[in-house]
Amino acid sequence: MKKARATLDRVLSKAGIASRATTREWIGEGRVKVNGRVIRNPDHWVETVKDVVHLDGLKIREEKKIYVALNKPGGVVTSFGDNRNRPTVYDYIKKLDRWVFPVGRLDMDTSGLLILTNDTQYGEALLQPESKIPKTYYVKAASVFAAGDYFDLAYGLDIGRGETSGRAIVREVRVNDKYTWFELTITEGKNRQVRRMCDAIGHAVLKLVRIRIGDLSLGDLPVGQFKVLNHEEAQKALQK
Ligand code: URA
Repeated sequence: MKKARATLDRVLSKAGIASRATTREWIGEGRVKVNGRVIRNPDHWVETVKDVVHLDGLKIREEKKIYVALNKPGGVVTSFGDNRNRPTVYDYIKKLDRWVFPVGRLDMDTSGLLILTNDTQYGEALLQPESKIPKTYYVKAASVFAAGDYFDLAYGLDIGRGETSGRAIVREVRVNDKYTWFELTITEGKNRQVRRMCDAIGHAVLKLVRIRIGDLSLGDLPVGQFKVLNHEEAQKALQK
């Protein structure tokens, strides 16, 4: 049976929002309300069945897991709040009215599929390097690729800062006398990896869209829109 009482920091961490240490900081910062009143004491006892807890105005519900796919627009930061006041992914999920965190991040200029959830285990399963979940990107490069360029992307490259990219799958989509469009599937998640892979072979990226994570495709979800995934859809993202 569910425990009827828990401390406020535990209620938040159990909801899969963040570690207890982080939730204690947030509580101290006055971001958490219990039954409409700001509580700054992380050890405050909460009646888990009847007390209503809000973080930054969003209602926290324990245990009910939620998985969301957002088609992140370019020019949007993958973080909660931005010190330069740029739009963030949270501006696009306001209607959700639930606290979720982004599973990994897309660069500000990258658009496409971003999963947000309150399920920390799911997030870890997707992100841990050993899981090697394939992620596919649609890339428009500002130049014309030679056959050797595809080969280099596919077989691994020195991408600087002492890092290399592993094996990748490349599929040319279209090429004209100025640009190349292709799909690139990688199983790692190094910082700005796709852009650095293209930089390493002398091609600048003009457009980068994540179109698939595991077996979960972006499909026709419009830019800037989100949808709540059912269990089966959420699990697809974990398929290799
Ligand atoms: N690779 C990049 O360069 N940027 C992203 O946002 C994701 C992958």
